[in-house]
Amino acid sequence: MAQQVQGVIARTKGEPVRIETIVVPDPGPGEAVVRIQACGVCHTDLHYREGGINDDFPFLLGHEAAGVVESVGEGVTEVAVGDFVILNWRAVCGQCRACLRGRPQYCFDTHNAKQKMTLTDGTELSPALGIGAFAEKTLVAAGQCTKVDPEASPAAAGLLGCGVMAGIGAAINTGNVGRGDSVAVIGCGGVGNAAVVGARLAGAARIIAVDIDDKKLETAKGLGATHTVNSRSADPVEAIRELTGGNGADVVIEAVGRPETYEQAFYARDLAGTVVLVGVPTPEMKIELPLLDVFGRGGALKSSWYGDCLPSRDFPMLIDLYRQGRLDLDAFVTETIALEDVEKAFERMHHGDVLRSVVMF
Ligand code: APR
Ligand code: ZN
Ligand code: ZN
Repeated sequence: MAQQVQGVIARTKGEPVRIETIVVPDPGPGEAVVRIQACGVCHTDLHYREGGINDDFPFLLGHEAAGVVESVGEGVTEVAVGDFVILNWRAVCGQCRACLRGRPQYCFDTHNAKQKMTLTDGTELSPALGIGAFAEKTLVAAGQCTKVDPEASPAAAGLLGCGVMAGIGAAINTGNVGRGDSVAVIGCGGVGNAAVVGARLAGAARIIAVDIDDKKLETAKGLGATHTVNSRSADPVEAIRELTGGNGADVVIEAVGRPETYEQAFYARDLAGTVVLVGVPTPEMKIELPLLDVFGRGGALKSSWYGDCLPSRDFPMLIDLYRQGRLDLDAFVTETIALEDVEKAFERMHHGDVLRSVVMF
């Protein structure tokens, strides 16, 4: 039977979000209903509210979540009722060319739930990133659920569903950071700091954190950065070169999404190094590079979409590291809040005071 629960809705462009009653249908074939326990507040939720992603209002926001499977539809084999799961944006097939090449986020055959959640008047909702987890319950494709160790804290586990996975994956999956590498991370918000953690997990010898905010650099140090550079007071490209014996970093991760930092990342790498772009630019942004500089540099220029994660491989592995005390996911949870406080959390995000606010149910 369809159920009515509370959810955070963005009705029209730029308007503050509101709590409204939503209708969650029973799961159809291949679908699951998940009782949400925790959901982080991510920039992308704000982008949806501002109409920056698409115009498919009203949105049910929230997409960085963990919870317990409450019911499953016909033919579901991925998960069972009672499983503790982390949700991901789209179910990937694991078998197409993109998946087999280790870039599952470019999968040719992804799918989300076919049925729709609605408002009580029948208006169909667009769930943020195919999830919609600022709600007591949500309907997803079963393939969007990855079972992990139920002993993990829901707040910490949920973070792997988006920003923290994007950062860790940018270092480990996209950047292929190796033991002894030197890594520079430009922009140390939630995503960049997760990239610092990823670089450390991968055994990087040198991790240079770059930001314009000393508070963020302090956090980066606590998470494993060996050097910090405030790019308001020093040229980051020069500083990174100096700290790497004049060569540049083996892997440079850009986690801001601005033209000047893209350019810094391009020039701060070793001639055979890799640049990983994880910061998302806006449509009007451009950079201009001398072609000879592009030609003269080997290595790779890669963008990282969702940390190139394969949820079934990466979520349980990272939760194991967390449970062993080798991955401090709790450090990313600045505060836990109630469902009513999402709008306030958006404001705090603007001031740069939080790595993550997490809604607890
Ligand atoms: N140079 C260095 N750091 C900068 C600069 C700059 N010119 N401008 C901003 N920053 C820093 C900020 O001080 C902040 O610490 O970049 C960081 C951005 O962090 P957040 O705003 O917390 O954003 P985050 O959630 O980490 O996402 C970063 O990745 O996934 C994308 O869409 C996301 O583009 C965004 C980026
Ligand atoms: Zn997100
Ligand atoms: Zn695939």
